[in-house]
Amino acid sequence: MRLLQLDLGGFDSNWNYLFWDESMKVGGCVDPGGDVDALIAAANTEGVKIQYVFITHGHFDHTGGYQEVRKKTGAKVVAHTGSQVKADEYADDGSKYNVGGIEVECLFTPGHEPHHICYYIRKENALFTGDLLFVDGVGRADLPGGDVDVMRKSLKRLAQLPDGTIVYPGHDYGWRPSSTIGEQKQTNPYMALL
Ligand SMILES: [Fe+2]
Repeated sequence: MRLLQLDLGGFDSNWNYLFWDESMKVGGCVDPGGDVDALIAAANTEGVKIQYVFITHGHFDHTGGYQEVRKKTGAKVVAHTGSQVKADEYADDGSKYNVGGIEVECLFTPGHEPHHICYYIRKENALFTGDLLFVDGVGRADLPGGDVDVMRKSLKRLAQLPDGTIVYPGHDYGWRPSSTIGEQKQTNPYMALL
C-alpha cells in the first residue's frame, strides 16, 4: 500500500489522505475537506482510480469535498449509518471494504461526534483516527453531540490496538504529522489517563 498525507488547504490544518494498492492502482481517500482538484490531481499523477471516499464524521471540514469527489471520479462514499452525510454505503462497526485488495475495517468510535468512524487497515498497521485522536491530543467533546465519557470508551478501544499501529489524524495539531498507538499511550496525556 502507498499513502499520501496531504495538506490541501482545509479549514483548520486538516489532513486529507489518499491511499492505494500499487499493483491494482485503485485506492481510497479519507475526509476530503480541502482542494478536491488537488486531491484528484495527486491521484492522477500516481495513475490511481479513487474507488471509495471514507468519511470519519460529519463535520464540514471533513466533508466539504466528498460530493465533488464522487461527481468527478465516480467513487462511492462511505459514512456511518445515521450520519447526515449523503453516502452511497452506510457502515457500522465491523463493516469492511475491499479497496484494490486493501481491506479497510470500520471501528465505530463516537464521542467527538455521534457517528464517528475510525478506518483501520489492519494488514498495513494504519489507522485513520479522524477527530478522535490527534498526535498528543484528542478531539473536542463539547460540540453538539459530543460526549466525553463515550469518547473515553472509544479511545480505550484504540489503545487496545497493537502498539505499532500508525495513527493518521484528521488534523495537523501535533509536533509531527503522525504517530503510533504505542507512542500515544506514552506521550498523549489523554491516552495516559485512560
Ligand atoms: Fe470534527
